[in-house]
Amino acid sequence: MAKLQNKVAVITGGASGIGAATARLFVKEGAKVVLVDLNEEKGNAFEAELKEQNAEALFIKANITSEEEVANVFKQTIETFGKVDVVFNNAGIGRVHSSHDLEYSEWRNTVNVDLDGVFLVAREAIREFLKADGGVIVNTASMYGWVGSPGSAAYNAAKGGVINLTRSLALEYAEQNIRINALCPGFIDTPIIPEESKEALRSMTPMKRLGKDEEMAKAVLFMSCDDSSFMTGNTLTVDGGYTAQ
Ligand SMILES: NC(=O)c1ccc[n+]([C@@H]2O[C@H](COP(=O)([O-])OP(=O)(O)OC[C@H]3O[C@@H](n4cnc5c(N)ncnc54)[C@H](O)[C@@H]3O)[C@@H](O)[C@H]2O)c1
Repeated sequence: MAKLQNKVAVITGGASGIGAATARLFVKEGAKVVLVDLNEEKGNAFEAELKEQNAEALFIKANITSEEEVANVFKQTIETFGKVDVVFNNAGIGRVHSSHDLEYSEWRNTVNVDLDGVFLVAREAIREFLKADGGVIVNTASMYGWVGSPGSAAYNAAKGGVINLTRSLALEYAEQNIRINALCPGFIDTPIIPEESKEALRSMTPMKRLGKDEEMAKAVLFMSCDDSSFMTGNTLTVDGGYTAQ
């Protein structure tokens, strides 16, 4: 039996990288997917691609930092598919920049998307799950939520925040049948990583390669289905050994 048969999954950052790979795997496992992204062109093209494969998919253009747009995502999901079971809270941004000349506006923008946006999506998901019989959230943090690195202070602070947000929300709603965990990827070969950085990131990784988005999707699937039914408030770090160093 497919692991997400008849489940409805909302995936933010669903038009690209880890989110898109997860949507592909979720569809194979029987889910209907709602792809949420700022990138309308990629989102529409990916929705069409999934529908061609007879999957049930819906793209919604939304910014996860907007309370109204996030609320609308869940409203449209319920209107279209009748319910929501799984939320992969994954959209994020990141850029390397030295901290002493980082504009405050850029700090705010990074924390706004990578932490505040994750909260807004989780809050709306929990509101729906409380009306239903629970649900599952997987937040995307990062291995840089565990360890530091030069030039990514805002990103790393936000991702560390996502890890403890995950624990705190999980404890708050554990008795309501809402499970909340986080994925902590290492360096993964997606459009967020500039081409010119790839070689250096490979050599910094003990396994001497970048991770693949499909490898993240498998970890997300585990945390999204009943295989992880006794797991909440925790993390899966999938990083080719980086944080073992
Ligand atoms: N690739 C890596 O090495 C890596 C490592 C650790 C963590 N992550 C995290 O994984 C997640 C997915 O990243 P990815 O690697 O697939 O990159 P990606 O750039 O391929 O995908 C991110 C998607 O999020 C969307 N997005 C950005 N801001 C948004 C917003 N405000 N509202 C809605 N959508 C928005 C983008 O349009 C994009 O499609 C991010 O949270 C990222 O921080 C990635």
